Parts: sequence; C-alpha cells; structure tokens
Amino acid sequence: MRSLIFFSIVLTIIIGLSVGARFLILYTNKKLWNWNIVDKFGRLLPFFIIFIIIMAIGGGLLGIRSIMFLSAMLMATMTIAALILILSLPFSILFMKIGEKLLDFKSSPKTKIDHASRRAFLKSATAAIPMITLGTAGSGFAKAFSDVKIPQISMEFPNLPEALNGFKILHLSDIHLGYYFTLYDLEKLLINTSEYPVDMVLVTGDVSDDLSQLPDALKLIGQIPTIYPKFVSLGNHEYYRGINDVKRIIDAGPVPLLCDNGVSLKIQNAELFIGGANDPMHMRADINEFMRDSLDKTMKDSPDKALKLLMSHRPRALDVAEQFDIDLILGGHTHGGQIGLNGKSVFEGVMSEQYLWGKYQKGKTKLYTSSGVGHWFPYRLGCPAEAPIITLVKGSTYV
Ligand SMILES: [Fe+2]
Repeated sequence: MRSLIFFSIVLTIIIGLSVGARFLILYTNKKLWNWNIVDKFGRLLPFFIIFIIIMAIGGGLLGIRSIMFLSAMLMATMTIAALILILSLPFSILFMKIGEKLLDFKSSPKTKIDHASRRAFLKSATAAIPMITLGTAGSGFAKAFSDVKIPQISMEFPNLPEALNGFKILHLSDIHLGYYFTLYDLEKLLINTSEYPVDMVLVTGDVSDDLSQLPDALKLIGQIPTIYPKFVSLGNHEYYRGINDVKRIIDAGPVPLLCDNGVSLKIQNAELFIGGANDPMHMRADINEFMRDSLDKTMKDSPDKALKLLMSHRPRALDVAEQFDIDLILGGHTHGGQIGLNGKSVFEGVMSEQYLWGKYQKGKTKLYTSSGVGHWFPYRLGCPAEAPIITLVKGSTYV
C-alpha cells in the first residue's frame, strides 16, 4: 500500500514536470525546441506514463521486485529528464539571444549573412543545450549507481584523551535500502570498507525503505569486525515505514538502537559516551525545541569527563548541542542535496535545512553531515554517495 502511495506521488510529480516541460517547449521557446523528436516524445509521454503505472501496480500486486525496480528506474529517468529540460530552457533562451547579438554585431551591410545560414548557425549552436541537458542527466544518473566513496575524515579535539587519539568510526547514514540501493550494494560497500579497519560502526538513520531487507542489513553491519559495539539511531524513514515494526526488527538484531538514550564505553583509561537522538519525523518550525527535548533525555547520564558523541539523523542538533557539552555529532538526512560543488552542497544556505554536507562547528561542538550511502532518488552530481571513516585526532583546528 505504501509503495502504491509512493508511486502515485512520484507519478504526479512526473506528470506535472512533463506537462510543464511541454508547455515551456511549445509556448516559450518554440524556435529552438520545435524538433520532430521532441514533439513526438511529448505526444508519446502520456502512453509511457500509463505503461509505467501499469508496470508499477502490476509489479506491486504480483510482488515481482524486478518489475517494480524497472518501473522505479523509468520514473526516475523521466523525472530527471523533465526537470533538467525545464531548468535548461532559460539558458537556451539566453544562448540564442547572445548568438543573435553576435551575428548582428559581426554582420556589415556588405557581408550580411542571409536568413538561411543565420538559422543554420543558431540551430547548430543551440543544439548544444539539449546535448548538455541529456549529458548532465545521464552523468548524474550514472553517478548515482557508481561505487559509494569512502572518504577519510579527521575530526580534531583539543581535549581528546590519548587513548582516543586515532579512534576510527565507520559512519553509515541514509542507506535507504530499496529500489536504488540493494542488499547486494550494501554487501559490496562493506567489502570495500573492510580495507580500512575501524573501531566502531555508527548508523545514523534511514536504514531501509523496504522493511523486509532490514534484518539482513543489520546482520551484515553486525558482521563488520570491530573491537567496540555498533549502534543505530532513528531517521524519519524509520517512522514512515512503521516505527513499531522497525524497533521490533532492530531489537531482534545484532545492532542495538540508541533513541533518547546513550551508553558509556571504557576505551583503555578514557571514556567515550555515545548518544542517539530521536527524529522529529517531519520538518517542523519547533525543531530546536524537539532536539533540545531529545538531547535532555539522551545526554542526562553522560559522564562529565567523557568525550561526548551524538548520533543525530538531523544535523540541526548542532544548533542546541553546545549546552549539552557535546563534542561531536554524526548526522545525515540531507543527502547533501545530492548536487554539490567543491565538496559543498549547492543548496547550502538556500534550504531551510542547514549543515547539508561536510564538516561544521558551533562553539566547541563539531559536526560531520554525511551525504549518505543511498538516496531516495537516483541522481547525484558533484555529491557522491559516501560512507566516511571518521578519525578522532588530538588537535585544535576549527573546521
Ligand atoms: Fe532522513
């Protein structure tokens, strides 16, 4: 039932985007996009959509995963193409205007280029736009399915006990097991990460969009060789999938859940406190109040002298963390907006969500937001999927 609701929402978005793209092509930019192939594509689009709906419903009713997977891929491809097409139209108009201006400027009355060759020039010049559109769409789509990166991230703390200097944590966030990231992909990732031994594994929410895969995912994570325990915390998708079912599955598995509580670990003569924040499920105006309330419960038993690490699906925990004397937050949720430039999300500062990807610091509290292992939509450009290995280092660099 939930899959059908998901498909319906995605299809509504596709239909909206497709109608929008066709409208823009036909009425705002007719000169450039009046190609036979675009016109034919526009006419066939409704039939494609009906075909995908039948595939998605049929696959769901028959429980045939490969058919559901294929329909999900077709939806994603069409959405990406329509979205990029819409976004590229203003650039193509600009490109045409510049081309026209240049031709006017270069043409003297004696060497005036005739209308036919002028049209030919503009047609070939502006042909670059749909090519770039398709290239960008294809590249981002392909990159969503390329290997998950394993960046080595150092986080420095001036008060770090010697016993924790060099302590390594494999940070897994937003695995989103389902159509676009499967158990096979997770197994492959964990084989790749095994090249880098770690002391601990922390999983910060949105583990599985398909609950039937959650037990095996936790088993796989539980098998990673580490000296210290692994923990999982909750994300909004755990609530979407049914929080009671998720908790029952986690309780029966090898990776304990931390939610509004934490544990203290003895690492030689040092203490490391690991807390797990709850997730508000939806973006809400009072997120600071929600996080403060959750951290009140989570951090209440943290020893004064311990290095305090918080697992929080929401990076926004950073806004209230300092009052709880937290040293490090590992977060996710944002997927880095799935489009980045130079190691930062292009949506940084634009969206109501903050701290979208990478290192941040507020007061003494440091945060690393992972761009996520999986995604709910297979498109990534300049913001690869990642499973960072976080190394605690004694030092005092402000990030
Ligand atoms: Fe999330």
